[in-house]
Amino acid sequence: MNNFELFTQVHRPKLNDFSREYIKALDIPLPLKESIIYSLINDGKKIRPLSFLYLLDYYKVNYNKYFDVALAIELVHTYSLVHDDLPEMDNDDYRWGKLTNHKVHGVDVAVLTGDAMLTLAFEVLSECEVDSKLKIRLIKQLANYSGAMGMIAGQIYDVKQKNFNVDANYLRNMHSLKTGKLIELPLDFAALIAEKKSDYELIKDFGKELGIAYQIKDDILDYYGDFKKIGKLPSDENMITYLSFYGIAECEQFLLKHTQNAKNIAKKLENNNLEQLADYLLRREK
Ligand code: IPE
Ligand code: IPE
Ligand code: MG
Ligand code: MG
Repeated sequence: MNNFELFTQVHRPKLNDFSREYIKALDIPLPLKESIIYSLINDGKKIRPLSFLYLLDYYKVNYNKYFDVALAIELVHTYSLVHDDLPEMDNDDYRWGKLTNHKVHGVDVAVLTGDAMLTLAFEVLSECEVDSKLKIRLIKQLANYSGAMGMIAGQIYDVKQKNFNVDANYLRNMHSLKTGKLIELPLDFAALIAEKKSDYELIKDFGKELGIAYQIKDDILDYYGDFKKIGKLPSDENMITYLSFYGIAECEQFLLKHTQNAKNIAKKLENNNLEQLADYLLRREK
């Protein structure tokens, strides 16, 4: 088990506890509270908030102060999947090894749950303990990475594939946006909070490579992974993915290439922790 994996084993339960207590304490309608907790507290990897805390730890920042920022990051990720699974989107029945949110709480509540998680993320972030100038930067970054210029743009390119000529560039751009942006975000946040200006650009480059590798691995696991581990079923049979476009052999090559690119950047940064993060994501089985 490498350092990152060890870190996740210790901090994933802590993050789940913190998140559950945070939502429980909110004065909001009970059906909404139950629905948020249903999707937020799950068997998922929590890669995004944990990579944020892990990089802060590497930079010797007291990451215990930033669980709220970690929660904001995970709220956006969870909202994106609650909406992604809806009947009008990917129409999926399983996520995190259990029924999808709309299957349990209904489409109406699932849509509103996603809306609530996204807006709550901004509220949580607006209350975190950093100076106001940095806070505005984090808020803008979250909006940019998750919104019309980020994850949502990627989701549009995904659902509207028929309107475009889907070639290698299209696929890469779509994946950099729909998945890459939210993988980059936590590393970007950690570099900003730790005030590592000299590392910032390379951290962003690292996040970009990691984001593409992450989606390739996701496509491979969707088809070759074990439901008991990944907790979801393949859904995009008619969609063009890395796997359907390149085939498994080339996908494995791409996955190795982008992971290696990320690791080379981590080497430049002399950051062994980031190398371990990349290695863990390459090997993951869920
Ligand atoms: C799944 O993300 C969807 C993608 C953006 C690739 P994760 O694999 O990180 O989701 P969790 O771990 O199940 O929450
Ligand atoms: C989800 O992408 C990416 C989001 C922005 C939510 P997919 O639709 O490919 O991911 P899974 O397979 O449902 O997890
Ligand atoms: Mg989708
Ligand atoms: Mg999906």
